[in-house]
Amino acid sequence: MKILVTGGAGMIGSNLVRRLAGQGHEVFVADNFWRGKREYLLGEDARPLVPAERLFEVDLRDHDACLRATRGMDAVFHLADIVAGINFVFANQLFLWRANVLINSNVLDACVANKVGRYVYVGTACSFPKSKQSYLNPPPFREQDVYPAEPESAYGWSKLMGEYEAELAGQEGRLEVGILRLHNVYGPPCELDPEKSQVIPALCRKAILHPAEPFVVWGSGNQRRAFVHVDDIVDALEAVLDRGMNQGAIQIGPSESVSIREIAEKVVALSGRDIAIQYDATRPEGDMDRTADWSKAARVLGWAPRVDIDRGLAATYAWCARHLGRG
Ligand SMILES: NC(=O)c1ccc[n+]([C@@H]2O[C@H](COP(=O)([O-])OP(=O)(O)OC[C@H]3O[C@@H](n4cnc5c(N)ncnc54)[C@H](O)[C@@H]3O)[C@@H](O)[C@H]2O)c1
Repeated sequence: MKILVTGGAGMIGSNLVRRLAGQGHEVFVADNFWRGKREYLLGEDARPLVPAERLFEVDLRDHDACLRATRGMDAVFHLADIVAGINFVFANQLFLWRANVLINSNVLDACVANKVGRYVYVGTACSFPKSKQSYLNPPPFREQDVYPAEPESAYGWSKLMGEYEAELAGQEGRLEVGILRLHNVYGPPCELDPEKSQVIPALCRKAILHPAEPFVVWGSGNQRRAFVHVDDIVDALEAVLDRGMNQGAIQIGPSESVSIREIAEKVVALSGRDIAIQYDATRPEGDMDRTADWSKAARVLGWAPRVDIDRGLAATYAWCARHLGRG
C-alpha cells in the first residue's frame, strides 16, 4: 500500500515508519521537523528508511501542502501535531490550539478531497475531563468518559476536536476512520531538548547530565500516569488499519498508573549515581491520575500492553545516554 505517515519523523511516527517499511509498504512521510528529526528515519545500516522523494518537508498548517502530501495515498496515519512537555503546553496554549486544529482539519480535508481510503487519527488521554482525573485512583477510563468534555489544556481540547472532526467524516461516509486514544507514550527516539521534552526523557536527561543540570521533578511527584511503550503503540496502529476502522475511538494504555516520584526513583537507580531528588511544587504537574480500561482495544484489535515499565525505561535511559554522548 501507499501509506503516508504525517509526523513520521517524530517518536511514534518514526517507529511506525520503520515497521511499515519493513513490511514492504511504500511509505511516505510529511513533517516540518518542529520536533521530529531526520536521523530518526535511518535504518540499522544508516541508510534512510524513506527515500528523499518520499520525505515531504512541509508545514501541515498549510492546506495546499496537505493536498500535495496526501495525493494518491491508500491510507494516512495522521500523527503530526504539536506535542511537548507540560511546561510548553501550558505556556503556549493559543499557539498550540491553533496549530493542532489547523493541522488536523487540513489533513483530514485533504484526505477526503483526494479520496484516501483509510484515515487513522490519534487522540490523547489529556482529552479526558479534568474533574475525572483530579484525584488519586480514579476508576479506569472508558472511551465514553471523554464527554461531557472539559480537558485541562488547549492540547487536550485540540486533540479532542481532531477526534470529533474525524468522527464526522466517518459518519458521513467520506472515508474510513480509525481513532486511537493514547495514554502517556514513551520510548526511543525521544526529544531531549529542555523546552520540548516530556517527563521520562526529561528525567533521563537530568540524571545523565547531573550535576550540570539539577535533578528537579516538577510538582509533588505524586501525580500518576499510565505509561505505554512506543512499541505497544505501533502494534495498535498496525492493528487499527486491519481491524479498527469505523469502530469509534479505542483507548490504548495500561490499567495501572505509576507516580512521577516512582519514575524519578527508577531513573536515578538506572543512572547508578548518588542523586538527591528535588521536588518543585511551584511547577505545574497537570492532572493527578488516570488509567485506561483497554477492554475495547483487546476486543476489537486483539491488543494488550507487552513492554513493562522497567524494561522500557531501561532501554529508553540507555538510548538517552548514548544520544547525549554518555552511553
Ligand atoms: N507522546 C505521547 O505521550 C502521546 C500521547 C497521546 C497522543 N499522542 C499523539 O501522538 C502523535 C505523535 O506524537 P509523538 O509523541 O510522536 O510526538 P512527536 O512530536 O515526536 O511527533 C509529532 C511530529 O509532528 C511534527 N509536526 C509538528 N507540527 C507540524 C506541522 N505544522 N507540520 C508538519 N509536521 C509537524 C513534529 O515535527 C513531529 O515530528 C501526536 O498526534 C500526539 O498528539 C502522543
